Amino acid sequence: MDFFPALSEPLLYLAPMAGVTDSVFRRLCKEFGADVMVTEFVSAEGILHRNQRTREMVAFAASERPLGVQLFGADPDRLAAAAAAVVDWVTPDFIDLNFGCPVNKVVCRHGGSALLRDCPLLEKVAGTVVREVAPVPVTAKIRLGWDAATINATVTARLLEAAGVRVVAVHGRTKEQGYSGEADWDEIARVAEAVRIPVIGNGDIRTAHDVRHRLQTTPVRGVMIGRGAMTAPWIFRQAKALLRGLPDFPEPTLEEQWNHIIRHCEMAVAEGDSEPHTLASLRGQLMAYSRGMPGGRQLRSRLQQVTRLEQVRDLAAEHVAQAPNLEVAGMAA
Ligand SMILES: Cc1cc2nc3c(=O)[nH]c(=O)nc-3n(C[C@H](O)[C@H](O)[C@H](O)COP(=O)(O)O)c2cc1C
Repeated sequence: MDFFPALSEPLLYLAPMAGVTDSVFRRLCKEFGADVMVTEFVSAEGILHRNQRTREMVAFAASERPLGVQLFGADPDRLAAAAAAVVDWVTPDFIDLNFGCPVNKVVCRHGGSALLRDCPLLEKVAGTVVREVAPVPVTAKIRLGWDAATINATVTARLLEAAGVRVVAVHGRTKEQGYSGEADWDEIARVAEAVRIPVIGNGDIRTAHDVRHRLQTTPVRGVMIGRGAMTAPWIFRQAKALLRGLPDFPEPTLEEQWNHIIRHCEMAVAEGDSEPHTLASLRGQLMAYSRGMPGGRQLRSRLQQVTRLEQVRDLAAEHVAQAPNLEVAGMAA
C-alpha cells in the first residue's frame, strides 16, 4: 500500500462498523488522530445495482484519506466488477475485502466469514479483485477462523499474501464467537509472524495503554479500534501521545465529552435528512458515549428519547451541573 511504508510509526485504524463509522464519525476520529479509515461493509451487489443508499455508503471527504472502501460478496467476478466501479466512482486509496462478517444474512449467501472455510474461493476472490483494480491496493479483514476447531488465520493470511493482498487486519475471534469471549492476541501474533505483509491486530482495545501493550508484545504493524473508539474517540490522540513517549493524555472532562457529543450531533444533523431521524440513528453512538459517565442509567434513558438538538444541549448542561452529585455508573452499556 503506497501510504504504508512511508509511515515509520505504527498505524492506528478506525475499525469499520456498520451503522456507526459514517463519514461524520470518521472525520471526528481523524481529528483525534486515527491514521486509516475503512468504510462500513458494502455489498458488491448493491454497488452493481447502483442503488442510492450504496452510493452514500461509499462517499467520503478528502480529509478522511487514506481511506478504503470495504466490500463483501462471494462471486469473484461480481466482486471485482464492484471494486472497479467503486474505484471509478470515488477513487479510494484502497479496496478492503470483508472475510470476517459473522452475520447470518451475509454468511448464508457465502459472503464475509463464510469464505474462511472455503479457502480456494477466498483465494480466487482476492486474486480476481487484486488483478481487476491494480494498481489500487487491496487489503483484507479476516477472523481467526470459522470456529475453535478450525482456526486457520495463518493459512488464510498466507493465501491472501500470495494473491497480492497488501495488508491483512485480523480480528482475534472466530466466526462462531461473534463478539463473545476475548480476542486472542497470541493467535494474531502468529499470523503476523507467518506473513511478510503488514498485519493489523484487532479486538478489545479500549485504552491507549492497550494500544501500546499490543504493539509492544506482538509483531503487528498497527492496531484497529472499533467499540473502544465508539465510546472514546479520543483514544487515538491518547495512544499517539503514549507511543511518542509524551506524558499520559488526560481523559477529557465531562464538559469536553459533551462538547464532542453535541458537535457530533450537529454535524450529523447538518448532513442528514430530518433532525429526529438523524438523532434516532445516532442512538447507539449516544449510548456508547454515555458509558462510564456519572448517572449513566438515567442519562441513557433520556438520551434514548432525544429528537431535537436543543434537547441534547439542554441535557448536557443539566448533566454537567448535576454531575458532582451523581454516581459513576461503571461501564455497563
Ligand atoms: C456495530 C458494529 C458493526 C460492525 N460492522 C463491521 C463491518 O461493516 N465490517 C467489518 O469488517 N467489521 C465490522 N465490525 C467488526 C469491527 O470492525 C471489529 O472487528 C470488532 O468490533 C472488534 O474490534 P473492537 O473490539 O475494537 O470493537 C462491526 C462491529 C460492530 C460492533
